[in-house]
Amino acid sequence: MTDGTLSISALTKTFAKGSTTVTALENVNVEIGAGEFVAVVGSSGCGKSTLLNILAGLDRQTSGQVLVGGRPVGGPGPDRAMVFQSDAAFPWLTVTENLEYGLKVQGRSAAERKRVVGELLPLLGLEQFAHSYPRELSGGMRKRIDIGRAYAVEPEILLMDEPFGALDVVTREHMQDELLRIWSARRSTVVFITHDIDEAIMLSDRIVMLSPRPGRVREIVDVPFDRPRTPELRESADFYRLRTDLRRMMGEAVR
Ligand SMILES: Nc1ncnc2c1ncn2[C@@H]1O[C@H](COP(=O)(O)OP(=O)(O)O)[C@@H](O)[C@H]1O
Ligand SMILES: [Mg+2]
Repeated sequence: MTDGTLSISALTKTFAKGSTTVTALENVNVEIGAGEFVAVVGSSGCGKSTLLNILAGLDRQTSGQVLVGGRPVGGPGPDRAMVFQSDAAFPWLTVTENLEYGLKVQGRSAAERKRVVGELLPLLGLEQFAHSYPRELSGGMRKRIDIGRAYAVEPEILLMDEPFGALDVVTREHMQDELLRIWSARRSTVVFITHDIDEAIMLSDRIVMLSPRPGRVREIVDVPFDRPRTPELRESADFYRLRTDLRRMMGEAVR
């Protein structure tokens, strides 16, 4: 187990493409504290998923270093869980069976699994659907199964790659509020990838803005809003002002 810190230094990643190479990330430096919620924004193809995959240990950097809890990433581990845009719940398992799947893989006892699922179901607002199958649920509910599956194994770090990108706007905002509620009960470190600036502002403590490919850190912006954040924040003048500033910065990053 780790302390939930992430240290990314001089991170560069190139992919071979035929006889040439594509640089996806170039000299990325970010320090993330335990329990911090960091959003990573940038245009499509700027290396966001590549960065997250490296943090997850699913891919390796070309050069530079990534430390999790002070130790170099050697591969995937139970200290880091991922949530993707596409549904990850197994369609042939019920909500309860999906939530306890990772624990079964870890060889945890039936009593332990029951305890974890018993805590998660109300936290996710899925108590009434414990024995339902994913296809019987809405897109937002299926997303909550994915978040629950990630939290079931009690990771120090949650890595989220545009998890709400496929949801309609209303459901997406609802899921942002839900994620904040779940996160405030669990307090893991979160690295949350999005190309939606409003989403980044609503959720995060800091926003790491990447430039178009090759992805470099263009700016790291503190989000000054208190927690807990309420849906009303989205309507506030301060929110609107920060969004305008960030959109301008993004526009400049694109030019
Ligand atoms: N496995 C791969 N092989 C070759 N090129 C890749 C691979 N994965 C990503 N890339 C390239 O790296 C760049 C960044 O991709 P990605 O990290 O998926 O961007 P984002 O998630 O920001 O949209 C893109 O140009 C993409 O084509
Ligand atoms: Mg991506």
